[in-house]
Amino acid sequence: MEKKTFAIGKKEVKVPLLQGGMGVGISLGGLAGAVAREGAVGIISAAHPGYREPDFYQNTVEANKRAIHKEMEKARKIAPDGIIGFNIMVAMNYYEEYVHEIVKAGADIIVSGAGLPADLPAYIEGSDVAIAPIVSTEKSAKVILKYWDRKYKRTADLLVIEGPLAGGHLGFHVKQLEEFTPELYDEEVKKILGIVRQYEEKYGHKIPVVLAGGIRSHEDYVHAMSLGVDGIQVASRFVPTEECDADIRYKNAYIQAQEKDIEIVKSPVGMPGRAMHNKLMDRVAGGERVPAVKCLNCIHTCNPATTPYCITDALIHAAKGELDEALLFCGGKAYEADHIGTVKEVIDSYRFFEE
Ligand SMILES: Cc1cc2nc3c(=O)[nH]c(=O)nc-3n(C[C@H](O)[C@H](O)[C@H](O)COP(=O)(O)O)c2cc1C
Repeated sequence: MEKKTFAIGKKEVKVPLLQGGMGVGISLGGLAGAVAREGAVGIISAAHPGYREPDFYQNTVEANKRAIHKEMEKARKIAPDGIIGFNIMVAMNYYEEYVHEIVKAGADIIVSGAGLPADLPAYIEGSDVAIAPIVSTEKSAKVILKYWDRKYKRTADLLVIEGPLAGGHLGFHVKQLEEFTPELYDEEVKKILGIVRQYEEKYGHKIPVVLAGGIRSHEDYVHAMSLGVDGIQVASRFVPTEECDADIRYKNAYIQAQEKDIEIVKSPVGMPGRAMHNKLMDRVAGGERVPAVKCLNCIHTCNPATTPYCITDALIHAAKGELDEALLFCGGKAYEADHIGTVKEVIDSYRFFEE
């Protein structure tokens, strides 16, 4: 295959892969640095990166801001010239404050999803950080690109298309998840690319597009490229790696999972999510309400009075390997994992520049 890459700001992406942001605490400086060292794009999750800071429950925002710098420094040490960015969820409170901190930390790119990052251009003004919205449908691509065009007279520096097989929060209604066959979703990707082309023409520059969701092999990569995208975003395959920032028990859960263990869950964020079935999901399905350790007012769509469980607590349990109390986010094909490897091994397995 012809060597085809793209740029993020002034940096050339050597390997056309973005590692998907994984919060809480799954993709921090260790994983993002290791991915960036291989020439791909490493992404640190900005969802409570400070969960291990001693004052996390007293000074949550400050602890997270401190950790944004620590994780960035850690990744930069591993990959001094690599491309390193952050993923931040639109649903998070203090979004603007965290974005300012990410810019100060010297990120190359901010990827933002779990909602449409309507005013992200305002928050990064004056910096040269690249910005990339995550969309799942033609409709969401149209809405965000039109809004940025009208209000900010700019367009995206990169676009992530997250398909129905992705892990974590999904940008689809449950009904859409049932309706989108792989063939129908391929058509949706082409429609999204049609929208992107209009803005490329208007702004006179390329908008690289990467496709995410269950892209696990060379063949999957070749298929994605055949649709007209510029690269792929991969998350689940990086969980069972030595460099992933999660506890070993979380990595082993991926290896032990079977197809039947992976399900669509209703997240307190108000979107469907994909995760592994476990004791917490059983308790919630049985009508139990699991109180938060301490409400940190972190998600603006979460109502602490009615939420069946606290998503922050559940995701922190996951990162720490406390599997029974955890929300175990994973992609739709995460059960295919059969060993703990290295980041280099995962990236090499895509055979990016081979026929
Ligand atoms: C454990 C886990 C946590 C995730 N957390 C986030 C997140 O915080 N923000 C986000 O935009 N996407 C998140 N995602 C989605 C990924 O970034 C990615 O786009 C998707 O999972 C790609 O599909 P794959 O896992 O099959 O490669 C998460 C995915 C996983 C598996």
